[in-house]
Amino acid sequence: MAEIRIENLHKAFDNFVAVRESSFTVRDGEFFVMLGPSGCGKTTTLRMIAGLEMPTAGRIYLDGEDVTYKRGGERDIAFVFQLFALYPHMNVRQNISFPLRMEGVGRREVRARTEEVAAMLQIDHLLKRPVNGLSSGDRQRVALGRAIVRRAKAFLLDEPLGALDAEFRDLMCEELRALHDRVGATSVYVTHDQVEAMSMADRICVMNKGEVLQIGSPSEIYARPATRFVAGFIGTPSMNFLTGQGGFDAGASAIRVNGSAIAVPRLREPLDHGGAIIGVRPEHISIAGEGALKGEVFAVEYMGSRQLITVDTDAGRLRVRAPNTTRVDFGETVGLNFDSQRLVVFHPETGRALASDLSEPAHG
Ligand SMILES: Nc1ncnc2c1ncn2[C@@H]1O[C@H](COP(=O)(O)OP(=O)(O)O)[C@@H](O)[C@H]1O
Ligand SMILES: [Mg+2]
Repeated sequence: MAEIRIENLHKAFDNFVAVRESSFTVRDGEFFVMLGPSGCGKTTTLRMIAGLEMPTAGRIYLDGEDVTYKRGGERDIAFVFQLFALYPHMNVRQNISFPLRMEGVGRREVRARTEEVAAMLQIDHLLKRPVNGLSSGDRQRVALGRAIVRRAKAFLLDEPLGALDAEFRDLMCEELRALHDRVGATSVYVTHDQVEAMSMADRICVMNKGEVLQIGSPSEIYARPATRFVAGFIGTPSMNFLTGQGGFDAGASAIRVNGSAIAVPRLREPLDHGGAIIGVRPEHISIAGEGALKGEVFAVEYMGSRQLITVDTDAGRLRVRAPNTTRVDFGETVGLNFDSQRLVVFHPETGRALASDLSEPAHG
């Protein structure tokens, strides 16, 4: 059992705050993904959990035990680095088995576990090879093998797939997730790639500028982003935004955009100045009839069973994900309808999502 809890974790380098008052709990056995753009503090958070970096303030608990000031070696945690160093003078087998040999595990068990891990990672045919001549993908797999062979309580993975090409990356995502489920350890996985995060995570922690913005399942974060940043960071293409005018009472269920009333989930809090930003996913816009807004078709991209239609409206450019049965021509004027119960309304200045009667995210 390994639960990781951080409380108000804070890290400043001189005057620069890399991680700001961060709090979350990674549940036992969970695949927890920390997602955010480069420089948002993911690695720093991970390094503090691993005991490689001392926090400026805050606490870290491993299975309820305060390990904030324990050395890294005293925490039963394995860390897989973004840029890892293999032992160049050792072959693949020696690299993978190194942590076990350091622990004094018996020869036979070292052999069995090393070979099991190598087979899992499809590098069993390379066991005798020196690591120097290997491709970057194979080197990454050796590093992964070395990390998981120890069967630590928790695995911290810092952009471990960064050096891999796209095709192999997809395969590794699946393998890693399957590996996690088989091993049953707690994993904290860091990435700046939202597709990776969405496909692998039990829960995602979205960060920006050193702050945790939202923690939730992929479907929650997709359907109910807590801030405009989260909404824009998740999804390909990202959420569309429309600027609405006027203030609203709690209970309002429509927002004016360029003279048109766009129906939204009933707001549970007032918005008394400066208008609002409406967020809408591309698949929640449809092209038909008069529409709540009108626009001109700027581009059509076919993507198998669906198509991505870019429409320029007076309220800005919108991307629409439509079935490929929707027929539109370049330059055509079309009406746009919105799946009103799935729209998210954001505060225009803070970017925070307003409380509303938004529909539950679809599961599965
Ligand atoms: N040892 C350090 N000294 C000074 N600044 C640092 C140090 N480590 C990280 N930073 C800064 O902290 C911020 C967060 O870094 P990091 O945690 O590596 O981000 P991420 O992993 O999300 O890309 C960055 O702006 C980085 O330059
Ligand atoms: Mg990093």
